[in-house]
Amino acid sequence: MTEGGKRPLLDVEEPVNEINKLLNERLPLYKRADTSVDTNYITPEETAQEIIERLALDLRRVRVELGERSYCILIGSKVLRRLGLRIKTFRPSRVAGVSNNTVFPLYRDTILRSLREYNIVPHIILLPDGEEYKDHLWTYYIQGELLKARFDRSSLLIALGGGVIGDITGFAASTYMRGIRYVQVPTTLLSQVDSSVGGKTGVNHPLGKNMIGTFYQPSLVAIDVDTLRSLPKREFYAGMAEVIKYGVIADSGFFDCLQKNIKDILSLGDGLIRVIKRSCEVKAEVVSKDEKESGLRAILNFGHTIGHAVETVTGYTELLHGEAVAMGMCAAADLAVRMGILHRDESGRIRELIEMYHLPSRIPAELQVQDMINAMEIDKKTEAGKIKFILPEAIGKVRIVEDVDRELIKEVLAENRK
Ligand SMILES: NC(=O)c1ccc[n+]([C@@H]2O[C@H](COP(=O)([O-])OP(=O)(O)OC[C@H]3O[C@@H](n4cnc5c(N)ncnc54)[C@H](O)[C@@H]3O)[C@@H](O)[C@H]2O)c1
Repeated sequence: MTEGGKRPLLDVEEPVNEINKLLNERLPLYKRADTSVDTNYITPEETAQEIIERLALDLRRVRVELGERSYCILIGSKVLRRLGLRIKTFRPSRVAGVSNNTVFPLYRDTILRSLREYNIVPHIILLPDGEEYKDHLWTYYIQGELLKARFDRSSLLIALGGGVIGDITGFAASTYMRGIRYVQVPTTLLSQVDSSVGGKTGVNHPLGKNMIGTFYQPSLVAIDVDTLRSLPKREFYAGMAEVIKYGVIADSGFFDCLQKNIKDILSLGDGLIRVIKRSCEVKAEVVSKDEKESGLRAILNFGHTIGHAVETVTGYTELLHGEAVAMGMCAAADLAVRMGILHRDESGRIRELIEMYHLPSRIPAELQVQDMINAMEIDKKTEAGKIKFILPEAIGKVRIVEDVDRELIKEVLAENRK
């Protein structure tokens, strides 16, 4: 770094070259910063205010590195109150907030006040609450609202809600005028640690769940942990299934921390921000290496082969996604033990942690094994009839097994029923 010397530093013949040279010298230091503020389009006063608030509020930040599609995940308390400034930095021509009838009334005042502070008056688009509305008709409805209100290509959508709202808003954004920007403001634990990160957008088709969709990254993910206070407990536990998944696939220390800090996490204590941050880091790392799921990203599907089968057989009505994944993780761990990949004690620890977080670890007894096998065979992850599994070798490490013996799967499914 240049120290002292001649100032101003840009008083040279080729200032642009000098800027690039300084940037290259300083970049390694900038990268070590705990947080960074995008000062484009905001005033020095707003910049100072943002820095003060980030420090005071213990705001955490994770970056999803995807070249020019890179973006930030902000995690903390009172994030909604400062949403206006963050939206302003994108300089959108128009802003629409997409939400549902359950979530919007809870956070309407906070969001509208925050946006109004920066002269942003959003167009509000509300959907009914439920997975059944995540379809092409409601996508069309969102896009129709945007067209009627004359939204152009510089507009921006804010998705306020759980994974359903995030998925359909992202999909609408990716197809409206060939793609406009969107910001994820996830309000369920599952959407904060999973669906809002990674750019998978989509809707359901009568012939298959999430079958129509795109890979389309958001411009920002703004996670306000305070929104979890209004979330029903069962939804919170379901989100914990995905959190536990990150421990099993990538970080045994994190798995231990989930065990040790259970009281704090379940009471939405201070440690929860770190838990969400670590979950987002694991997902961001995997997505950065394999954005479109051509290999490594498949490890995020640990627990999902059997989980999806259970959801399909139960018609997506009785169980929450996280609950089915919890059952799927326990069964997959047992499968790994049977295949000699995982030690029995480790499988026991996975089941124990899942139960500690009030999640079901066994498949409902009334489900037929053959029906679940049939469901696995038509799953979009099954290729050329080969049923693929993500299996743990130890807590913190998994491997992809391309073609698991059906008889073995049947035995494990039968054993795992209540
Ligand atoms: N894109 C991805 O990578 C990805 C990954 C996993 C799941 N998904 C999708 O996510 C969806 C499931 O997401 P979900 O579990 O968040 O369900 P959800 O969006 O249906 O939300 C669950 C319920 O909680 C309510 N809710 C949300 N936030 C609330 C809050 N703060 N306070 C009170 N109530 C609140 C919702 O209105 C809803 O009734 C599924 O459609 C699934 O396919 C997508």
